[in-house]
Amino acid sequence: MKNFNIILGLVLLGLTSLSAQSVEIRDYHKDVIGNDCKTCHDNGIKQFPSDEACLQCHNVDDLAKQTMPANEEDKWQNPHNNLHYGKDVPCQECHGEHTPKKQPLCNTCHTFKFKGYKG
Ligand code: HEC
Ligand code: HEC
Ligand code: HEC
Ligand code: HEC
Repeated sequence: MKNFNIILGLVLLGLTSLSAQSVEIRDYHKDVIGNDCKTCHDNGIKQFPSDEACLQCHNVDDLAKQTMPANEEDKWQNPHNNLHYGKDVPCQECHGEHTPKKQPLCNTCHTFKFKGYKG
């Protein structure tokens, strides 16, 4: 039994370090966060981070200004302040970290062009 526990321990150790190594972190985050998973994973590593974690460094009002469409008539296409949800859409509906998203939520129904979108 003792040996079995040691082996189990080694296997679990292997799995934990494997999962830590196998996640990709975006370059723009690596510079500021490094490998400190907890900076985002405020709900534990197995859960998706909350928006509060992102909002430690990002600000919705600033984002809404940065991504304001150039044409006044398109202003409600702003992903960070839009017609349906205002400023209240969880970041992860549109932004991935380890796994890129194919498109922002809006484009499941629309065909908006977001030139700066990185998934
Ligand atoms: C410790 C601070 C920090 C945290 C926490 C953080 N970010 Fe960032 N993020 C940055 C910095 C710094 C940049 C690079 C400068 C910029 O674009 O604002 C960046 C860049 C980004 C970009 C890309 C900007 C571009 O160039 O297109 C996205 C998207 C993004 N963050 C989303 C998120 C999301 C979603 C979360 C939460 C899961 C998050 N960030 C958590 C600091 C942070
Ligand atoms: C910049 C924020 C950020 C950092 C730093 C970060 N994560 Fe994540 N993590 C996320 C987001 C956002 C998700 C949701 C899925 C996705 O977008 O890839 C996630 C999902 C995960 C998941 C999947 C959970 C599930 O149920 O599918 C694992 C495992 C994980 N992260 C591990 C790590 C590890 C290990 C580190 C440190 C090396 C780390 N993360 C650092 C933002 C981050
Ligand atoms: C589940 C489907 C769905 C999603 C997701 C969705 N929309 Fe819409 N949206 C609609 C429908 C339906 C209309 C009304 C019909 C129309 O005018 O196209 C509409 C109308 C609009 C309009 C006014 C008409 C136009 O095309 O300018 C804007 C602006 C808009 N949506 C922005 C967004 C943005 C930004 C997102 C992402 C945050 C989004 N929508 C997500 C279904 C959706
Ligand atoms: C409805 C989809 C959607 C949601 C929700 C969303 N974003 Fe974005 N985000 C985008 C798109 C699309 C872009 C690229 C905009 C463009 O091309 O004009 C973007 C761009 C960004 C940028 C780069 C801004 C720049 O111009 O430098 C950052 C940083 C960012 N998002 C962070 C966040 C954070 C943090 C949250 C949550 C508070 C969030 N986003 C929620 C769709 C979204």
